[in-house]
Amino acid sequence: MCASSTVHLVDGFSFSGEVRVGAERPVGKSGRWAGRAGKSAGRAGEEQGASVGTATYRVAVIGGDGIGPEVVAEALKVVAAAGVALESRAFELGAAHYLATGEVLADETLEALRGFDAVLLGAVGPPIGSTDVPPGLLERGLLLRLRFELDLYVNHRPFTGTPGSLSPECDFVVVRENTEGTYVGEGGFLRKGTRHEVATQGSVNTRMGVERCVRYAFELAAQRPRRHLTLVHKTNVLTFAGDLWQRTVDEVSVEFPGVTRDYNHVDAACIYLVEQPTRYDVVVTDNLFGDILTDLAGAVAGGIGFAASANLNPARTGPSLFEPVHGAAHDIAGSGKANPLAAISSAALMLDYLGEHDAAARVHKAVATYLEEYPAGTPFPSTVAVGDAIAERL
Ligand code: IPM
Ligand code: MN
Repeated sequence: MCASSTVHLVDGFSFSGEVRVGAERPVGKSGRWAGRAGKSAGRAGEEQGASVGTATYRVAVIGGDGIGPEVVAEALKVVAAAGVALESRAFELGAAHYLATGEVLADETLEALRGFDAVLLGAVGPPIGSTDVPPGLLERGLLLRLRFELDLYVNHRPFTGTPGSLSPECDFVVVRENTEGTYVGEGGFLRKGTRHEVATQGSVNTRMGVERCVRYAFELAAQRPRRHLTLVHKTNVLTFAGDLWQRTVDEVSVEFPGVTRDYNHVDAACIYLVEQPTRYDVVVTDNLFGDILTDLAGAVAGGIGFAASANLNPARTGPSLFEPVHGAAHDIAGSGKANPLAAISSAALMLDYLGEHDAAARVHKAVATYLEEYPAGTPFPSTVAVGDAIAERL
């Protein structure tokens, strides 16, 4: 039923509604995530008066457009097969919802989302070339609004080279600042449409915003075997923002003596990502550089079809959002050709973040062993068959 005229709680997914799996399992509290342990895991344990128990996580599911709902259905199938109980609710948002209702993201919907432990998103956007949805409307009004309003200040994007990719050996995480930089939309037009038009687009970098992202990256690096952090920026040209980033890294690094650090200009990082991607362990960078570098990293590590991402609020003042890096791919929607592995890996990131480290590790391992058998580039069975194959391996 609708909680209000604008919040659509529908059963559009094969695993939406209540999915409860009764398996008892320990509720993990520590892990390789930077930041604090999962509040919901602790809460559920406390309710039962025990340190172990069955936590049921409340997950908002935004299937979205194109292949989004299909890949998310496979991700939810895999989560259930991993033995984690989700109470999921589907929210209709995206291009189709906008065209049907004129709404991008209602305030009430945003408030409803705040009440969940996590948000799992498939993909949103109209078909390429379609002019029905004004450019930037969904990007700014939905995806970026969620990142800003839920204070998802870290975009955590891991890249593990898949067999058959350009770099099967690479294993690094890009920590992209997710709430500042050019993405805040600072700027505007002057004399628009005239020959004397001026358009400016600023980049906002606050000490607080940069520092919390950099600290997350150091905490993450400190937990990884190689303990190495690379700042990627363009300090030789962006002398104001770059200076703030470099000074922040220098100052925060004092708290992490065990982490070695490096600096690459973003243009050089593009060469290294292609020629020598194994040099990276944790990369920390600003919003726009992170956006561009993660598409390149996805291509190097096996293709955007495998790239997962976690939009995190490490302070845990609200839910974090998990989504594949790929888009809605309307051209293959409904054909069974969509690769659900990025959505499945994003759901594994969600499990880890919720404190379900064991289930997360099993899903990651199932994806890895599947890819050993079916390396990037081998004939693809079908969306559902891949989901089934991963679920069977758990
Ligand atoms: C991404 C996407 C988004 C971004 C777009 C869709 C707003 O490219 O998540 O990388 O630029 O961050
Ligand atoms: Mn992008």
